[in-house]
Amino acid sequence: MKAALYDRHGGVEELYLGEVPTPEPASGEALIRIRACALNGFDPMMLGGTTGLRVPLPMTPCGDAAGEIAALGPETEAVGWEVGERVMIDPLLEGRGMLGEKAPGAASEYLSIPLGNLVRMPANVSFEQAAALPVAYGTALRMIEDRARVEPDETVLVLGATGGVGSCCVQLCKRIGARVIATGGSTRKRELLRALGADHALPSRSVELVRQVREIAGRPRYHDPDAGGVDVVINYIGGSTWAACLKVLRYQGRMVTCGATAGYDPPTDIRYIWSFEQSIIGSDGWSGEGLIRLLDMVAAGELDPVIHAVRPIGRIREAMRELMAREVFGKSILTP
Ligand SMILES: NC(=O)c1ccc[n+]([C@@H]2O[C@H](COP(=O)([O-])OP(=O)(O)OC[C@H]3O[C@@H](n4cnc5c(N)ncnc54)[C@H](OP(=O)(O)O)[C@@H]3O)[C@@H](O)[C@H]2O)c1
Repeated sequence: MKAALYDRHGGVEELYLGEVPTPEPASGEALIRIRACALNGFDPMMLGGTTGLRVPLPMTPCGDAAGEIAALGPETEAVGWEVGERVMIDPLLEGRGMLGEKAPGAASEYLSIPLGNLVRMPANVSFEQAAALPVAYGTALRMIEDRARVEPDETVLVLGATGGVGSCCVQLCKRIGARVIATGGSTRKRELLRALGADHALPSRSVELVRQVREIAGRPRYHDPDAGGVDVVINYIGGSTWAACLKVLRYQGRMVTCGATAGYDPPTDIRYIWSFEQSIIGSDGWSGEGLIRLLDMVAAGELDPVIHAVRPIGRIREAMRELMAREVFGKSILTP
């Protein structure tokens, strides 16, 4: 079968479309014919070898995918799954790690997946929509609802709001009834953020971020939760944004992180954390129940995943280059 591959870490030039053996589903597994897969912010990091994780090479990118059951492993039929069923894949495989990180990713024609990682797709959800969901939307759902616990009428600052996780954070916060201040890297992306529902869209590279956010949300004051500042910051950017965000968070506000796109060991300012009694909250991954809820929301027309482009996997270099150049708004989808 065909698969996108890289044999060593580096830039997009390391990616190529190669031939690999079609996997054989073991007992308790299904062979999935991949119909759509999606890149995530971690794919360039895996390709570049910058995360500190040891990636088994050659590796195929893409953690997210949806497709059809092409075959079931031996002694698997009794469990209730049928050949031809449309499924989304939960990318974290027990004992084998994440697709595209430790296990071969989904930018290929087929994958063998344990049945426990399959999620049935409602009939009116497309493969492209389903492939957009697991890592980015699943993580955003858990971060907004379970970890940040965003409430109606709260003000939420979403950094990197134009990416996969970020665009979903904007959509979910608006769905809850919160006010959203989002950052985007270009005029066009900020227009798209407003169209997505963001109440304010600010430049992400601005050194004036603190002043601009305070102009909108007010200036935080000691021991006064009503004085000003944002209630919640969603910050998986890190780097120079980290300490800046402490200055716009209200008294007893929450800053939540699930990543560190621009640097994981940034300078901080502990004075703000104690004197404004701020909470720094970590959030990692998604829940299986969350993935089912996301599919149901899409089926009900309550959520429409933001899809930047749909391309054949033969054009993965182009899709990866765009992601690295910050030219993507939402999710980049590839089809075998
Ligand atoms: N822990 C978990 O379970 C989990 C799950 C999913 C994702 N994550 C992490 O969450 C982060 C976002 O993931 P994603 O898939 O949404 O990524 P993405 O689609 O690439 O989006 C990231 C956004 O951040 C901005 N950005 C990119 N590079 C940047 C840089 N060097 N400095 C500042 N801003 C930059 C870009 O927006 P602008 O150019 O418009 O500013 C981009 O749209 C990543 O760090 C990822 O590893 C963690």
